[in-house]
Amino acid sequence: MRIILGVGGGIAAYKVASLLRLFTEAGHDVTVIPTEAATRFVGVATWEALSGHPVSNSVFDDVHTVNHVRLGHEADLIVVAPATADLRARAAAGQANDLLTNTLLMAGSCPVLMAPAMHTEMWQHAATQANVETLRSRGVTVLEPASGRLTGSDTGPGRLPDPEAIFAAALALAGAPAAPTTVPQPGTNEEPVAPPSARPLAGLTVTISAGGTREPLDPVRFLGNRSSGKQGVALAAAARDAGARVRLLAAHMDVPPPAGVETTKVETALELRAAALHAAADSDVIIMAAAVADFRPADVAGTKIKKRDDVADPVITLVRNPDILRELVEVRDAASRDQLIVGFAAETGDADGDVLDYAMAKLRRKACDLLVVNHVGQDRVFGEDTNSVVILSRAGSEPQEASGSKSDVAAAVIDRISAELSRVVPPA
Ligand code: C5P
Repeated sequence: MRIILGVGGGIAAYKVASLLRLFTEAGHDVTVIPTEAATRFVGVATWEALSGHPVSNSVFDDVHTVNHVRLGHEADLIVVAPATADLRARAAAGQANDLLTNTLLMAGSCPVLMAPAMHTEMWQHAATQANVETLRSRGVTVLEPASGRLTGSDTGPGRLPDPEAIFAAALALAGAPAAPTTVPQPGTNEEPVAPPSARPLAGLTVTISAGGTREPLDPVRFLGNRSSGKQGVALAAAARDAGARVRLLAAHMDVPPPAGVETTKVETALELRAAALHAAADSDVIIMAAAVADFRPADVAGTKIKKRDDVADPVITLVRNPDILRELVEVRDAASRDQLIVGFAAETGDADGDVLDYAMAKLRRKACDLLVVNHVGQDRVFGEDTNSVVILSRAGSEPQEASGSKSDVAAAVIDRISAELSRVVPPA
């Protein structure tokens, strides 16, 4: 694959040298285009030596080859890392003031992936977020930054995702097969890239909903639930690590989205429904881990509802939200699409039946392929770091238990999904 690796002017540029190695060792042909500022962090000689190609950041070099036109047309994939706030702003505005931004404009239908890195305040600034939205609306995949120690003493979201995570997301975006195993060179201590068997979802797109929807009552109040989003975020990270391109549909969450996934924020059940139906069109797997409100207020007041002594206290009338999971299954079946759909169920037992009785009935009602069942109660599951689930399958195989940290449970669910997929589509 011909890859253009655009490097922005941030300190994280040094980590991109490892990303370049991952691409070249996996057999890809990489042309590096650093911005002028990037060359102040890592010199052109490094990029030339590691890529095996001459490196320029000016449209005035090699003018006779019309470099930006050639590079933009020939690329199979463009990866920009670190995608700094400035570089994304220039790309969002459609500027063409250096070789990289010219090439981005020439790229046409070639997939573009941007891996951001900057201080938290810069990432969260409304201007930056607006640019991210603009780029995403044009089809650019902008990964979430990782969270952790930044360049100064500050900590928070803004770190460049690990080169391995960018590498996996890039290959998944380009629909490339799983990365071949690389053997560490004698005398180096480089980690080998995971073998294909460790990336069972490579080449697949997985959409995951997470967190709790919020249903507005008026401009300041909403009906919500206690979902923290931790289990959905752990699933997104596990699917990413299994090699999938991951889309996270994030309702309200107490935790940040994991690095290296594409995140769409939603507020209400209706917004989640629209995002899920849109994403479903090209998803191989859908996991509905979000706690979706079953009801929403029938009327949303345009102004804050006031306490008044001269009128009776308000009564809230609720209307039912659509069952998104059920609808996704219906749409899939109507289109005869190959798609695995996984639901979650938080259940309690009662005098009429135990948790599994209710869960089996729910699986039949929702008609999804797998149902991951949580036993909930006071202080169980919501917001906790551990979980204990049973995975039920519509095909009727034995219920499978999984427990431990939410990452352990996520890994078990992703393993189970991989096993179901390999049963449906036997390896060639
Ligand atoms: O019916 P219940 O809320 O227990 O079902 C839980 C499962 O259904 C979860 O996977 C949840 O994401 C999904 N759901 C949905 N739309 C709703 C309610 C729940 O997709 N309105």
